[in-house]
Amino acid sequence: MSKINETELQMHYIELSRALLREAPSGQEHSFHLFTAGCQMNVLQSESVAAIMEKIGYTPKETEDADIIIYNTCTVRENANQKIYGHLGHLKNLKKKKPHMKIIIFGCMMQEPHVVEKIRKDYPFVDLVFGTHNMYKFAELFYRMMTSEGQIIDVWKESEDIVEGLPSSRKYFFKTGVNVMFGCNNFCSYCIVPYVRGREKSREPQDIIKEIEDLVKDGVTEIMLLGQNVNSYGKTLAVPVTFAQLLEQIEQIEGLKRIRFMTSHPKDLSDELIAVMAKSSKICHHLHLPLQSGSSRILKIMNRRYDKERYLDLVHKIRTAIPDISLTTDIIVGFPGETEEDFQETLDVVEKCDYDTAFTFIYSKRTGTPAASMPDQIPEDVVKERFDRLLSLVQEKGRAASSRFTGTVKEVLVEEESKDAGVLTGRTEHNLLVHFPGSKDLIGKYVNVSLDECKGFYYFGSIVNESE
Ligand code: 5AD
Ligand code: SF4
Repeated sequence: MSKINETELQMHYIELSRALLREAPSGQEHSFHLFTAGCQMNVLQSESVAAIMEKIGYTPKETEDADIIIYNTCTVRENANQKIYGHLGHLKNLKKKKPHMKIIIFGCMMQEPHVVEKIRKDYPFVDLVFGTHNMYKFAELFYRMMTSEGQIIDVWKESEDIVEGLPSSRKYFFKTGVNVMFGCNNFCSYCIVPYVRGREKSREPQDIIKEIEDLVKDGVTEIMLLGQNVNSYGKTLAVPVTFAQLLEQIEQIEGLKRIRFMTSHPKDLSDELIAVMAKSSKICHHLHLPLQSGSSRILKIMNRRYDKERYLDLVHKIRTAIPDISLTTDIIVGFPGETEEDFQETLDVVEKCDYDTAFTFIYSKRTGTPAASMPDQIPEDVVKERFDRLLSLVQEKGRAASSRFTGTVKEVLVEEESKDAGVLTGRTEHNLLVHFPGSKDLIGKYVNVSLDECKGFYYFGSIVNESE
């Protein structure tokens, strides 16, 4: 089936569901509650699901006493799974009181056969289960659920399709994420993503450009290009394109002011990309560059395909080309076999790289990944102790790195009002958060702000003048 037809088919199911809703018994509020776990790709996916629900005629609701409950799941770490089971237990009681309630659960966690088996067995009151590969069929699956009895489970192992042009609604009118690729081919030995998201697939550059042009016409000035490994973008296209070339094309879009992207795998970060970033006036000076471990020995077992030295060289190269760059990273503590010496190597890299922020994770054993069956799983107390040491170093270094702009004036994109009335929150191109007094009508605009005082991980500032 061609891509256009698939989109039209889904629009057709939206219409059918709309008609169904018009016939629904009165007294129901036609609300939906959508909970999203995980990464920015899930957030983007949820925005599409929310837009479809709204097109059908449902209104979003913050609380779980809605007519339709939808969970978009993540399975990168086990604790995300446990949370979902906790939620489901709670929903069972809610559904008893409200029998017309429907429960939908989808996303990465559903790609694991043992999870689906558990839902079939222990949570028969869940109405619809689907995975990552048929998300674009949400409208169709929703209609099937509303017109049939019993639990529907529809999880695909793989899909070649990228469906363009489905509805989406975004949280901020001025900024949004844009998928450039799906899936991952790297198979880091601890990671479940390649199993649940499937093989790497890139969108055609012209589809990406068209989407961004439309977004810009609709008021967007900042985009975040999303992919599990954006640096290998375009390799599988019929006419290969590099990520750097894609960025150069996106840069040409008039009206677009800021370009961000994530995530970059250090092994694929090219000199070409660094050069494009250095000369660009739109690509933000921020790179998220997951380290995972500072130990070359552990990196090898993790199948990361770089070592400590290469990572440090890369950081040096980036900082030489773009001196004010903000670097952030991900680090895993307690990978099987990690010794105190290995851990010291990680601390050493953190010491040397001056990250603004590092997201630190305790290793989580994921069934089916090579690391899950490796010997020497590290005892919990040892991991916890290392994790605490890492966190305090990361915070100390992060505070120092983040404060390097104190006293300077930076352009800030105003995002929202902060908890305190009359105080706005926005971000610099370096992704640093700034609070400053100002009026709400500046939301979505760029203002020059003097970064007067660094409060750890954010600044308190004052507007110098409006830059746009
Ligand atoms: N355990 C802990 N952290 C993990 N991540 C991925 N898989 C695991 C795991 N099994 C982390 C990595 C990745 C981030 C998104 O999640 O650091 O970069
Ligand atoms: Fe997981 Fe590695 Fe792929 Fe990132 S690059 S999604 S850590 S397998």
